[in-house]
Amino acid sequence: MESIWSQTCELTKRPALSKDIEVDVAVIGGGMAGILTAWQLERAGVRTVVLEADKIGGGQTKNTTAKITSQHGMFCHTFLAKKGEETARKYVQANQQAVEEYKRIIQETKIDCNFEETDAFVYSKDEGKLMQEAEAAKRLGIDVSLERHLEIPVDCTGAVRFFGQAQFHPLKFICELANGLQIYEDTVVTEVEDHLIRTSGGNVLAAQIVFAVHYPFLKFPGMYFARMHQERSYVLALEGAGKIHGMYIGDGEEKFSFRQYGDWLLLGGEGHRTGENREGGCYMRLKETAAKLYPGSHVAAAWSAQDCITSDGIPFIGIYTSDRPNWYVATGFQKWGMSSSMVSALILKDLICNRENPFADVFSPSRFSAEEIPHIVKDGKKAVAGLTRRFFQIPDETISSLERGQGAVVTTSEGKVGVYKTEEGEIRQVDIVCPHMGCQLSWNPDEQSWDCPCHGSRFDVEGNLLDDPAQEGIQCSGIQE
Ligand code: FES
Repeated sequence: MESIWSQTCELTKRPALSKDIEVDVAVIGGGMAGILTAWQLERAGVRTVVLEADKIGGGQTKNTTAKITSQHGMFCHTFLAKKGEETARKYVQANQQAVEEYKRIIQETKIDCNFEETDAFVYSKDEGKLMQEAEAAKRLGIDVSLERHLEIPVDCTGAVRFFGQAQFHPLKFICELANGLQIYEDTVVTEVEDHLIRTSGGNVLAAQIVFAVHYPFLKFPGMYFARMHQERSYVLALEGAGKIHGMYIGDGEEKFSFRQYGDWLLLGGEGHRTGENREGGCYMRLKETAAKLYPGSHVAAAWSAQDCITSDGIPFIGIYTSDRPNWYVATGFQKWGMSSSMVSALILKDLICNRENPFADVFSPSRFSAEEIPHIVKDGKKAVAGLTRRFFQIPDETISSLERGQGAVVTTSEGKVGVYKTEEGEIRQVDIVCPHMGCQLSWNPDEQSWDCPCHGSRFDVEGNLLDDPAQEGIQCSGIQE
């Protein structure tokens, strides 16, 4: 299922690395964060190379809703209460600076990427929360207003409106911005050791290394897997739904996202932790919502995204760990990949160039607050549950009862395995032990994939790796029914 961005922009193919090279900075990962970081560094006179395992923009960048905003849901009041005014203020300022930097770059480079300035709204049924949020936002110095009448047909009391935000076509932007950068695609990093990166096509010797890879694939050092989990969410591009002008996100149970792109209204929602698939199907429920809100519209495209969620709600941007001072990381962007990517690029450029950055401390991966502990314990329990389930869960499916086009965990003569029955009735059998850290995978009927509830790795029905942190696929064999 291709996003509207993939359907409307073809990216130029770039060569793979085929020799040993030496650079100032190597950026691992050619998503929005990696490309922006490389671009900012090159502008600062730092020789930079980007190493991308697949193709640039081919990961979560192509699946975003592409809102460029410092409005991150109903967060101002919570951040003020939990993190204090200085941290909350810096978080907002860093993200608004990111919005302004996109505007500046697009103006300067004249990239044609359907960039539009617009306002961002967070809507709610809860009057008290709306008042609280508007007040907190004003205290943090944000230009906001409380709106009562919205252009979207949701059941709410009103919305807090952030002025001066933006939206664009992420692939058109990244495609142009990447021109002039040294990028190697189809170049898989196999090992990183101090200043040396081994790849499928040659070694890279780099004074500094940036991990801009969505989810850091090294377990140690850093242990980022213990501080983040992954969530999936779904998007529909609707035709015949009319036009809206602002960008919207809901608060509470009916948490839907709205924005316009051309004739399409993008409706997002039905988020859940990766690996925890619910009955009924997420696409189906989102389509039902679309039919209710916009009767007569129809779905032109449907796709999903996967986001890394940190324990304290702030991305990890900065030095990877204290014992690797020449490594940097940018991950845990929550649902706000576009602004977080630019925040990363600006902070990492300053750190690498030995310049002061006023916001670096807020995003520093070495921060640790008591707020993280309950989340780490909760995520750890889920990981343990995933590990133990592998040995003790009694499956209730058998191969013969499996419907065509569906998968399940079943018991065979070899023990517990994952099986998928193709539309032709062929069986694809996979090893359901996640190669990352050994949790049991679960079947995702929406995406027809095997997903890990522990840290969010995903695999297709042939066992190929779809999403990290795992670095390899799972064993797959075909058997006849
Ligand atoms: Fe970590 Fe599966 S992603 S165990």
